[in-house]
Parts: sequence; C-alpha cells; structure tokens
Amino acid sequence: MRSVRIAIFASGKGSNAMALIQKAKELPKNLVDISFVLSDQAEAGVIEKAKDQGVKVLTVPRITGKRDHEEEILRILQAHQIDWIFLAGYMRLLSPSFLKNFAAWHGGSSQVVNIHPSLLPAYPGVDSIKRAYEDQTPISGVTLHYVDEGMDTGKIIHQDSIVRNPSDSFEVWAAQFHSVEHRLYGTFLEEIAHKKVPTVYFEENP
Ligand code: GRF
Repeated sequence: MRSVRIAIFASGKGSNAMALIQKAKELPKNLVDISFVLSDQAEAGVIEKAKDQGVKVLTVPRITGKRDHEEEILRILQAHQIDWIFLAGYMRLLSPSFLKNFAAWHGGSSQVVNIHPSLLPAYPGVDSIKRAYEDQTPISGVTLHYVDEGMDTGKIIHQDSIVRNPSDSFEVWAAQFHSVEHRLYGTFLEEIAHKKVPTVYFEENP
C-alpha cells in the first residue's frame, strides 16, 4: 500500500502546518506523505517555513471568483492524487461543490479536516480565543473536526479542553491553544499513518 497523501491548506503563520510536517518526519517512512502546502495568501508566513522544511508549496491566490479558484485547487488535488486535506488556519470556506467533488474521489468519504481553537459548537468562526477570554469562559479548548459546508460545523473527531486560571492574562491564556492544537493534529496524523483512522485512497475514476 502506498503512503497516504496529505495536502495542508494554510493562510497564515503556519504553526500547525509545521507541527504536522515535523510529526510526519518522526513517523516511520512511507506511511504518510505531506505532498504539499497550499496557500491562498502570497505573503503567508507558512510559505517560507514549509519550503525551509523541504515541503513543496503551491500558492493559489484568489484573483478570480470562488468557483474558478476552487476549480484550480481541485485540478491540483487531482494531479497529486491527494487522499486527505488538512486545513490549518485556512481562512476560506470550502463550497459544497468543492467538498462533493473531492469526496467523489474517495468513495464519497469526506476526508477533509480542520483544527479550531474552541470547544465546538461554542465559538465557531474567527477570534474564538479572544471571544472566549472576553466572556471569561472557565473552560475552552481545541476541536479537530471533519469539514462540511458550514462554518466549523462538521462532525467532531477529537476535543481537548483548556482550563482558565482567573489570573491568566490574555497572552498566557492564548499561548496554550497552539500547543494543544499541535498535539491533537499530530495525534490524528499518527492515527491515519497507523490506519486507526482508515483512508479511502484516491481513485481517479470513481
Ligand atoms: C489556529 O489557531 C487554528 O486553530 C485556526 O487558525 C489558527 C492558525 O494558526 N483555524 P497557524 O497558522 O497554524 O499558526
């Protein structure tokens, strides 16, 4: 059986992308392959970081409409025969037709996941860490979930909580989220590598 091929989509700094790349390097060879990092932002920090790690980077800025943009990305995914998409701070919603097209290459299985810094369904969308802090939420956390057409609404895979110490500054509180995200995503990558989470491999002609 060939390596499971993964594409990481990221728009920002890329700390989750880096954690996944690092974890992939630690795993036994030929189990998973981070085929590329795709960014919609030409200036994203993730680009140089991924290149420094020897990972291919594809920049697909959204110059035209959403449909053309997604079609271009689907062509890239098809050309690389990608099995899973890991969203890691990718700041665009994927359309129902994009998800349907991608799932069709995997027996209808939705192999797109996202990491989000809250205990979903609480605090979906942007600024989740800040909103939870401002609400003085005593417990928040991180959710790894499948991606559907909604905003952070897909089926939950793993969650891990972060308890707030009332004396924590925002910076102290916020700093805990990234390390939990990196651990959860790394664990999931491991589960895929060791087939604890089964992969439906890319099939050109479903
Ligand atoms: C993370 O907090 C992730 O949960 C959210 O976007 C942020 C991306 O951070 N979806 P980074 O670019 O991986 O450092």
